[in-house]
Amino acid sequence: MAGMTSPTLIIGGTGKTGRRVAARLQERCLPVRIGSRDGTPPFDWEDRATWAPALQGTRAAYIAFYPDLAVPGAPEAIAELARVALAGGTRRLVLLSGRGEEEAERAERELIASGAEWTIVRCSWFSQNFSEEYLRDHVMAGQLALPVGDVPEPFVDVEDIADVAVAALTDDRHIGELYELTGPRLLTFADAAAEIGEAAGRTLRVAPVSEQDFAAGLAHDGVPGDVISLMRYLFSVVLDGRNASVTDGVQRALGRPARDFRAYAARAAAAGAWR
Ligand SMILES: NC(=O)c1ccc[n+]([C@@H]2O[C@H](COP(=O)([O-])OP(=O)(O)OC[C@H]3O[C@@H](n4cnc5c(N)ncnc54)[C@H](OP(=O)(O)O)[C@@H]3O)[C@@H](O)[C@H]2O)c1
Repeated sequence: MAGMTSPTLIIGGTGKTGRRVAARLQERCLPVRIGSRDGTPPFDWEDRATWAPALQGTRAAYIAFYPDLAVPGAPEAIAELARVALAGGTRRLVLLSGRGEEEAERAERELIASGAEWTIVRCSWFSQNFSEEYLRDHVMAGQLALPVGDVPEPFVDVEDIADVAVAALTDDRHIGELYELTGPRLLTFADAAAEIGEAAGRTLRVAPVSEQDFAAGLAHDGVPGDVISLMRYLFSVVLDGRNASVTDGVQRALGRPARDFRAYAARAAAAGAWR
């Protein structure tokens, strides 16, 4: 807990995991600085001149890269961010990573080689994609029109990710650990749809579409080409079955089991996510 009076920079501090990490640190009366394009000072992945001022005087940083560590240039950005952080005296770096992504693993290796006091939180697909992200629109439309089959995914609750990230930011025992985080159960998208439908009291089903039709639909909605490429990659390569296994990462990091998808769905429904 040494040096805890200096702030922790939460990059992506307004996003799904980052805002929960920030809230938990603030509940513990630990100072945080929100890394955001609207932050003070601002942090922008697209403008490297913002990185050193945002890191200045911080003891640690939580790093949620945007849009995804799988995109070209992400490993180089992580290497450079770590270099800037260490040069300014920010030694503790906790990286949010993605499971089954070659570029993400390259970014992880850059962090490990940087000399930082690192922890990697390598995650499966977030449950909250269904309530706080693009999949919410599908839920509201009553069908998940996605290029998915029966490949199961162990969706992880971002509340667990935030708990692990906060532990890593505040407890030296997590330095040098790579935690692979999943939920406790494998669910196909049809399983997830059934459980969300039940919790939300609405009819929800999977309407499988081809990858080409999925991409064409995104283009029709004005989604930029690089984001469409990323989505295609996530739904084809990353969802090819490589991640169809559960891990004990939450248990190993926190000494308790991972939260279940059914509990997530009940909580999100009660909070009005699908009203
Ligand atoms: N979603 C998943 O299922 C999943 C699974 C595994 C890993 N991941 C990883 O999680 C990370 C975040 O993904 P997410 O989907 O959860 O998104 P998110 O954190 O909810 O994304 C939004 C955040 O990104 C920030 N942001 C956007 N553009 C930015 C820019 N140019 N510079 C600085 N910050 C910027 C936003 O900040 P402002 O708008 O305030 O600037 C906001 O805080 C990615 O690295 C991804 O690889 C995601």
